[in-house]
Amino acid sequence: MPSPREAPKSLQRKMDEVVEAVNKTIAKLLPETDLPEDKLFEAMRYGTMNGGKRLRPFLVIQAASLFNVDSKRSRRVAAAIEFVHCYSLIHDDLPAMDNSDMRRGKPSTHRAFDEATATLAGDALLALAFQVLSDPATHEDPRVRIELVAKLAEASGAHGLCGGQMLDLLGEQEAFDVGTISRLQRMKTGKLMAFACEAGAILGKSDEPHRKALCNYAYDLGLAFQVTDDVLDVEADPEVTGKPANQDAAAGKSTFVKALGKEAAKMRAEMLAAQAKRHLKVFSGHAETLEELADYVLSRRA
Ligand code: IPE
Ligand code: IPE
Ligand code: MG
Ligand code: MG
Ligand code: MG
Repeated sequence: MPSPREAPKSLQRKMDEVVEAVNKTIAKLLPETDLPEDKLFEAMRYGTMNGGKRLRPFLVIQAASLFNVDSKRSRRVAAAIEFVHCYSLIHDDLPAMDNSDMRRGKPSTHRAFDEATATLAGDALLALAFQVLSDPATHEDPRVRIELVAKLAEASGAHGLCGGQMLDLLGEQEAFDVGTISRLQRMKTGKLMAFACEAGAILGKSDEPHRKALCNYAYDLGLAFQVTDDVLDVEADPEVTGKPANQDAAAGKSTFVKALGKEAAKMRAEMLAAQAKRHLKVFSGHAETLEELADYVLSRRA
């Protein structure tokens, strides 16, 4: 696959470092087995160790670094959130949802294995995420662990990612207005990204204003990210994105591109990214990597 990203060199280097670090953590948390049910572990490894920008891990690690959190801890939380993200992609690609055959440039998990195995791999990754967060190796303070667990449950459940995915499917039958599409995208993408940033603040025992600022940043970033994903669906090269093009229109999805047109959708993403950056003012210039990330989210080609 050609290089999937367009980012300034320094940001690119930091993103590459996170990819490498989180891949190592994921590999340790998902070791090869010789158990009779090894097929399940194989599918979990396939669905997680197959590339990906690792954007949510990047958010955790960058947010945590603002509070000097030990990287061993932030990497575990980063891996847990990536497990939830990968589970959501495995299920998103299933025939019952987006029916997509390609993911990250390879056959999607249900194509490489089968639907039942892909469903179970997704389920097991979701469970593993909570297991990782609740392990004392993630943080010695049980109050920190319980807060991480509770917030991830909220972000990934019916009021978050799953609810957003439900709306996404309902939006194939009914043309949603811009307000409902914003709600859908905040739930399916924004909530997990907001949790990724907030998790850094929780690990660092941040004060409320800084924590709130990070959440608000990530919400706007997440929405800008999803609007860009919808734009890429109509204009990007599948060789670069690693997933098929024009899937949203084919399924009749309610996206900003459909509701507003491609150019207005791009302008909305720009506005959201600018808004995201403004939330970081409270860090007095120390969060410049997160600021740069907001620009990257708009310029990305994958
Ligand atoms: C794809 O997410 C699904 C959306 C929420 C738009 P990413 O674009 O972060 O996918 P990977 O992890 O890099 O493959
Ligand atoms: C997927 O959104 C969002 C989640 C899996 C939560 P999309 O369906 O737009 O993602 P892609 O385009 O398949 O990556
Ligand atoms: Mg989908
Ligand atoms: Mg999809
Ligand atoms: Mg999409």
